[in-house]
Amino acid sequence: MRQKKTHSPANLSLSIERAAGPNQMKIEEFSKRRRTLMRMVGDDGIAILPSAPVRTRSRDVAYRYRQDSDFYYLTGFAEPDSVAVLAPGRANGEYIIFCRDKDPLREQWDGSRAGPNGALENFAADDAFPIDDIDDILPGLLETRSRVYYTMGAYADFDHRITEWVKALRHRESSGIHTPHEFIALDHILHDMRLYKSRAEISAMRKAAKIAVRAHTRAIAAVRPGMFEYEIEAEYIHEFRRHDATISYAPIVGGGVNACTLHYVENNAELKDGDLLLIDAGCECDYYASDITRTMPVNGRFTGEQRAVYEIVLEAQLAAIEKTVKGNHWNDPHDAAVRIITKGLRKIGLLDGTVPRLIKDQAYQEFFMHRTGHWIGMDVHDVGDYKVGDEWRFLEPGMVTTVEPGVYITGDSHIPRKWRNIGVRIEDDVAVTNSGPDVLSKGLAKEADEIESLMAS
Ligand code: GLY
Ligand code: MN
Ligand code: MN
Repeated sequence: MRQKKTHSPANLSLSIERAAGPNQMKIEEFSKRRRTLMRMVGDDGIAILPSAPVRTRSRDVAYRYRQDSDFYYLTGFAEPDSVAVLAPGRANGEYIIFCRDKDPLREQWDGSRAGPNGALENFAADDAFPIDDIDDILPGLLETRSRVYYTMGAYADFDHRITEWVKALRHRESSGIHTPHEFIALDHILHDMRLYKSRAEISAMRKAAKIAVRAHTRAIAAVRPGMFEYEIEAEYIHEFRRHDATISYAPIVGGGVNACTLHYVENNAELKDGDLLLIDAGCECDYYASDITRTMPVNGRFTGEQRAVYEIVLEAQLAAIEKTVKGNHWNDPHDAAVRIITKGLRKIGLLDGTVPRLIKDQAYQEFFMHRTGHWIGMDVHDVGDYKVGDEWRFLEPGMVTTVEPGVYITGDSHIPRKWRNIGVRIEDDVAVTNSGPDVLSKGLAKEADEIESLMAS
């Protein structure tokens, strides 16, 4: 094993402001979103959103709590057992939060709660009630409204409660009670809003990307033959937590043939001299995700075959980024990647035929079997439609997508041995702007030579 200098992240030029605490997004940003939504909901509509439940990891131990993205998008409120209601035009306040009451004994165990007063004072709610009172209060809020905006199917228990509240009102219809007669999918409207990121959101995403760039830089410099994949994973966790970020998905750290398993997360194999290592790891910071992949030779030097495949994927990724511009449609970056990968695989002899024919027959799918990107935002695979009707959606400023072509050559016998077990993916997060693609994850080694010199540092 070669001796190496430690590559301290403190030496990196990318500066990251330290967070003063949670909830970095300004309270006004959340109010703006609620106002936009309420204009669409109208005075005879009501929108209802439940918080995410606490999820059990095993027996009585829970996972670290993560608020539902739609709920957080509109409230900035990160507590479980909460319900947000938007009732446009309501005289006693349009924005209502139901949340856990203060409880010194429980707070001693689980940490502090805002309580209804805290929801009013710190989260700009117009009206707030203890969650235990919701059965008494919510039916009254529904009574005067014709349309209920609600996302069915996300939380079965809450779906049931909504139906029970409406059913109870219907029983009283004969006494002149007015009941809602229309249910509208709230996610449809909300997810379209979430697809267009504001300046504050882009800056949150840039921060999540910067932290992940630092983590990749640290980890790539640490890779040596004989290490185990989990040791490299640990570099990411360390760097993420240093910046108050968490993983946005289970990191994929795959050496050799493991690089060809798209969602490989065991991360428990030894890194072998002569193999490639593919790392797909991103973080979540202030509820916004990054998602970055780099591929490197375990011993710090690409072989001729590894480099040839790497150059094909890199060319495809750069071409796809170039196509991530307003006015193009969602599929243009993918089409560009497919063309370059098909041409490249043909040139190195892994595909046989004319390029148009190979593309038409989707022959490339044996080696490139996923799409070139996905929306990214509060969720790593973010919300938003990719098609409008039957047509691919046009790219517009504020949309953010990953660009992540790959080539995976497994150990199949019909492939000459020298190409086997090469898996390469290169992934960045790219915002569509008025002035071209904005690579949020810039600053991370990407050219083959840059990767090699980072590994030699
Ligand atoms: N990390 C999951 C993906 O790239 O989509
Ligand atoms: Mn990824
Ligand atoms: Mn991705």
